[in-house]
Amino acid sequence: MEILTKNTEETKEFGRKFGAELKVNRKKAVVLALTGELGSGKTTFVQGLAEGLGIKQRIISPTFILVRKYKIPFSHQPLAISYLYHIDLYRLEKNIEGEVNNLGIEDFWKSPENVIVIEWAEKIKSMIPKSTIWIKFENLGEDKRRISLMTND
Ligand SMILES: Nc1ncnc2c1ncn2[C@@H]1O[C@H](COP(=O)(O)OP(=O)(O)OP(=O)(O)O)[C@@H](O)[C@H]1O
Ligand SMILES: [Mg+2]
Repeated sequence: MEILTKNTEETKEFGRKFGAELKVNRKKAVVLALTGELGSGKTTFVQGLAEGLGIKQRIISPTFILVRKYKIPFSHQPLAISYLYHIDLYRLEKNIEGEVNNLGIEDFWKSPENVIVIEWAEKIKSMIPKSTIWIKFENLGEDKRRISLMTND
């Protein structure tokens, strides 16, 4: 599945719908692996996603701290305490898998209520669960972006 967006707001709106429709009470955490060059719209999508999950805080890219954690409110997810983890691996160059292990990432996806969204996820491809939804962002020039979704199931 792919969509084309013409501006920032359309990418955000796509994220918002995606978040609002996510079924989080499954057996496994929802993992979204985002790929695509600088400025292709990954963080913009995450801002919409968070809004769609009912999160009111402003999403700031976790480029320097690698991970930010947001509580998903009860109104969206009435049965379980759940969190959105926003991870950005852009800065990592050396010992990437070791660094990511130190973040406790394996624990994030053990809780089925969690939503984990990872920018530059291709850097840890071998660590990513099979059930992950891969979302590729492409810059088609000016404000046009192509967003492609790939799932294994
Ligand atoms: N159709 C569009 N969708 C998303 N962003 C767009 C679009 N058109 C223009 N933009 C602009 O492109 C930029 C996208 O930045 P964003 O931070 O979302 O990219 P990113 O993929 O997260 O980059 P990085 O790899 O640096 O984290 C923003 O300045 C945004 O306003
Ligand atoms: Mg970003």
